[in-house]
Amino acid sequence: MQNKPLDVLILAAGLGTRMRSDIAKVLHKLDGRPLINHVCRTAAALAPQKVYVVVGHQGEEVRESVLEELEEEHVEFVWQKEQLGTGDAVNSARRFLEDRDSELLVLSGDVPMIKAETLAGLVRQHQSHRGKGAACTILSVEVDDPKGYGRIIRDTAGFFLKIAEQKDGNEAELKVREINAGIYCFDTRKLFDALSKVSNDNAQGEYYLTDAPRVLKDAGEPVSIFKLKDSFEIEGINDRRQLADLERSIRRRAIKRLMLDFGVTFIDPDRTYVGASVTIGRDSTIYPNVVLEGETKIGDGCVIKPGTRIANSKIGYGVEIRDNCVIEDADIGNRCTVGPMAHLRPGAVLGDGARIGNFVEVKKSVIGRNSKVNHLSYIGDATIGEDTNIGAGTITCNYDGKNKHRTNIGDRVKIGSDTMLVAPVTVGDDSVTGAGTVVTKDVPPKKLVVGAPGRAIRSLASPPEGEDG
Ligand code: UD1
Ligand code: CA
Repeated sequence: MQNKPLDVLILAAGLGTRMRSDIAKVLHKLDGRPLINHVCRTAAALAPQKVYVVVGHQGEEVRESVLEELEEEHVEFVWQKEQLGTGDAVNSARRFLEDRDSELLVLSGDVPMIKAETLAGLVRQHQSHRGKGAACTILSVEVDDPKGYGRIIRDTAGFFLKIAEQKDGNEAELKVREINAGIYCFDTRKLFDALSKVSNDNAQGEYYLTDAPRVLKDAGEPVSIFKLKDSFEIEGINDRRQLADLERSIRRRAIKRLMLDFGVTFIDPDRTYVGASVTIGRDSTIYPNVVLEGETKIGDGCVIKPGTRIANSKIGYGVEIRDNCVIEDADIGNRCTVGPMAHLRPGAVLGDGARIGNFVEVKKSVIGRNSKVNHLSYIGDATIGEDTNIGAGTITCNYDGKNKHRTNIGDRVKIGSDTMLVAPVTVGDDSVTGAGTVVTKDVPPKKLVVGAPGRAIRSLASPPEGEDG
């Protein structure tokens, strides 16, 4: 049998009243990314024909967020003017979808951890159900505490009967622990036929998408259930406690995987914060109160001391990051030492063996192999060669009030303490600047430059006997 093309529809129009927030629920962040972005990235992995996103509350912002994950030509935004329920949300896409001969995978913008493999399994079961395919397949799972979810009600033979929402179910129904994940695969045309028969005659006065499977079943259409074993993936976010719980489980899972599968030591796993996409090499040690975010990659045998935050950065092997550093969008070579209290900003690139010491800020600059910037310096928009030493208090004066300019420093250079390098400026290989030099012109290779030496202007009276100077 030829499978129909796959479309995806994501429900993301609700405000999420239970969040008690002025920000639409799907824009709240989990593992550093808005909930909607998680769902969109997973949807994209299935390579559907098109992704329809139903937007309403802060629709413009949601749209921008979605476009960080999906190409504009693969996505269609559908506006739901009033949030009259999940059934109404799907119905707002009617004019795009009702005549399409496709399968429609419906996802919830507030169920962020669902995996692409699981969805692929759901679609496969849907397409192969009894050899002909189902009209609807519902993703379900059994949970310890079903409160708040719709319950899957089956007949005595175990076949699907209906979904009972928390606010509508009777006592027996609410005892059921098998819940509706809010994720379904539908035959697109049959779904829109069924939706025209869904009413809002229920406890919330809403049009429930969860009534569509019952309408289909009552019309004699096959409805199947794809039951998952692990409830982690279908955890829905409705309030801040659920958001925090899920954030914690994501971090715990990431740390557990790094310990068991990758051989990373965590001094205190409960006090370390590691995002799901972070990778760390064998025999690296992570101290407490370290935050590792985004696409950070750390090599083998590294040590990350307490209080450091590293985001979207690449770190080689044998690197020591000492206490209390902030490192963002940086690229650190092998065997480097950074900190304590260093700030590597976007575009900081350290060659192998480079050293960045305390109270040093580096931005959009390359520090060459084995070069050192050990104390109290600002290096911005600069390129520094190999085996160069930058003395304490050195500043690249990169900003003239209007534009940024670059500083180039060669190999084996010794920049004296408190040198001001007024960019644009170049210091050639093997040159030396004296302490306190203000470099305003290019320095050729192998030159010593000094500037503005202190002049004696008068003698001072000796302090009276017995008094401290
Ligand atoms: C829904 C299901 C419930 C299921 C649960 C799983 C319904 C009626 N109930 O309940 O059976 O167990 O998800 O997580 O569907 N939305 C819109 N427009 C609206 C209303 C909602 O776009 O008018 C969006 C929301 O932004 C959200 C999603 O639909 O992303 C789900 O809505 P929500 O109100 O959270 O439904 P639940 O009460 O969780
Ligand atoms: Ca929900």
